[in-house]
Amino acid sequence: MAAEMALVKPISKFNTSIPKFGSSRCSKTRFLSVKMASTVAPPSKKKSQKQEIKESLLTPRFYTTDFDEMEQLFNTEINNKLNMGEFEALLQEFKTDFNQTHFVRNKEFKEAADKMQGPLRQIFVEFLERSCTAEFSGFLLYKELGRRLKKTNPVVAEIFSLMSRDEARHAGFLNKGLSDFNLALDLGFLTKARKYTFFKPKFIFYATYLSEKIGYWRYITIYRHLKENPEYQCYPIFKYFENWCQDENRHGDFFSALMKAQPQFLNDWKAKLWSRFFCLSVYVTMYLNDCQRSAFYEGIGLDTKQFDMHVIIETNRTTARIFPAVLDVENPEFKRKLDRMVEINTKLLAVGDTEDIPLVKNLKRIPLIAALANELLAAYLMKPIESGSVDFAEFEPQLVY
Ligand SMILES: [Fe+2]
Ligand SMILES: [Fe+2]
Repeated sequence: MAAEMALVKPISKFNTSIPKFGSSRCSKTRFLSVKMASTVAPPSKKKSQKQEIKESLLTPRFYTTDFDEMEQLFNTEINNKLNMGEFEALLQEFKTDFNQTHFVRNKEFKEAADKMQGPLRQIFVEFLERSCTAEFSGFLLYKELGRRLKKTNPVVAEIFSLMSRDEARHAGFLNKGLSDFNLALDLGFLTKARKYTFFKPKFIFYATYLSEKIGYWRYITIYRHLKENPEYQCYPIFKYFENWCQDENRHGDFFSALMKAQPQFLNDWKAKLWSRFFCLSVYVTMYLNDCQRSAFYEGIGLDTKQFDMHVIIETNRTTARIFPAVLDVENPEFKRKLDRMVEINTKLLAVGDTEDIPLVKNLKRIPLIAALANELLAAYLMKPIESGSVDFAEFEPQLVY
């Protein structure tokens, strides 16, 4: 998994009193903060210091599902739509492990991190933390699915296990990146401490497919941009994105195959409504998140909104091959709505930053949340694009670029 999807679940309560690390962490806490897991990792000291990570409506989440229902869905005796030939072929591809030797670091990492100072350094750390959390979230979900499906469908189970291998590699690589900044995410603590969001299997399929494909488009777009504009290549991790994103693409293709094996999740009016809902959640989450962090994208020479719209449009075109309906994201009105949501979200964040007591803050938030909900609903109700075909397998390229 590579991207984040959070809007579908409202904010939960978290621990709020955490010491800050170092003096460079100057940004104010927005919404509630959570003791998550990042620790300063000085080589000589065993004692570690907890780091504060902002927990908000848009923070990457961990997911869990109904594993018993999953077992039923992948039981070949119950579901005769499971094309085991296709899954066997996918398994062979995963076993090939194209990126086995790809994630090898060199001394450029530490040197680049040391050169990075000021606000860019801070925002870079946040990028690494969030990306690592999102990748690790995929690792946990796939690992558990691999374990739980072993008896019912060993082929599908092994693919999940191999995908969890990929995600562990991605999360580990990002965490090593944090060590260049003398930090580390304590992933064991993260596993236990974070709240898990429950999704029924059908929603896991929609959400995870989108998350993998949007992750692919984000990584490849950044990679191509930096290849053309090497003067913005401020940290070597981006050089790894070309092969890295192919992992995400393969993961997304596997979810395509899973959904085709469950046509009941793709072929009725409810599927159309849910498809649009998940597209909207994923796109809006990314847009609001990225606009909050435009300094990061500007730091690598990207225009945040332009970058996001490119990623949304490409992801939507890819998604239209499998989802029965998608949003008309190429209609300029869609972007106008996203921009209005950014304005409202900025006001919401400003309320969190005031010195008001919680009650006053909540009262001030009510009209803003109503306005945001209104925009979301209007975007959802825009005339959709009918799409998808459960027989599209032969048109799905293994490599999109
Ligand atoms: Fe990943
Ligand atoms: Fe992935």
